[in-house]
Amino acid sequence: AAALMLGACSKNDNTAAAPSAEKAYVVATDATYAPFEYQDNGQVVGFSKDILEAIAANQGIKFDFANTPWEGIFATLDKGDSDLVSSSVTITEERKGQMDFSDPYFEASQLIVTNEKGANIQSFADLQNHTASVQTGTTGDLVLQKQQGAGSANIKRFDTMPLALKELLTGGVDASVGDNGVIQNFVNNNPNVKLTTVSDPAFETEHYGFAVRKGRDDDLLAKINAGIAAIKADGTYQKIYDKWFGG
Ligand code: ARG
Repeated sequence: AAALMLGACSKNDNTAAAPSAEKAYVVATDATYAPFEYQDNGQVVGFSKDILEAIAANQGIKFDFANTPWEGIFATLDKGDSDLVSSSVTITEERKGQMDFSDPYFEASQLIVTNEKGANIQSFADLQNHTASVQTGTTGDLVLQKQQGAGSANIKRFDTMPLALKELLTGGVDASVGDNGVIQNFVNNNPNVKLTTVSDPAFETEHYGFAVRKGRDDDLLAKINAGIAAIKADGTYQKIYDKWFGG
């Protein structure tokens, strides 16, 4: 009888000890994209991360950030390696065929940055006759492909935006094309280099969204959208915006 009781007790103890596991959603993020998502002391930081943490606090959910290369980042959703992609992802019709997107959380556009070799580049059209670096598969890559064809020798593709921008600094290309916030951050951080930004009305307004598996995560999507609306309404969004982009 004693053994039986002991068994019963230990079974109860086990049940009591089992943590009421709070599920953390895994966020795939290409943390090479300051000021939106990058690494500081081995930690993912940035505007997008702060927005997601504010959404999590508002909705009572939890996110774990997994630094993930941009190439293949969307596929991590269907593989089950992530639940959410947060990577300054522009919402496009084509991508909507593959994933579901949250409501927009940031407005952006393409921006050209030139070095001294590209000093006579004054518009997007001028890129026809110049080399430009981009991060592979980004909207910057896509606008140049649309202009010149995917096979154009003018387009130099790199796995990360910092590598594309390094090529500009070393004079391997005349220009780089990328998201305005990232290009501007790069120019600000290189005050001693002669760099010029060129915007062009031909560049459409882009909206960043958080991506989830298509048709299978409506719950999570609803929470993210409710969170975005709530942090916009209560001033949290503005505070985070001012922190990263100056009030
Ligand atoms: N907004 C652009 C796009 O969606 C570039 C995003 C790149 N993001 C990154 N973390 N590398 O194509």
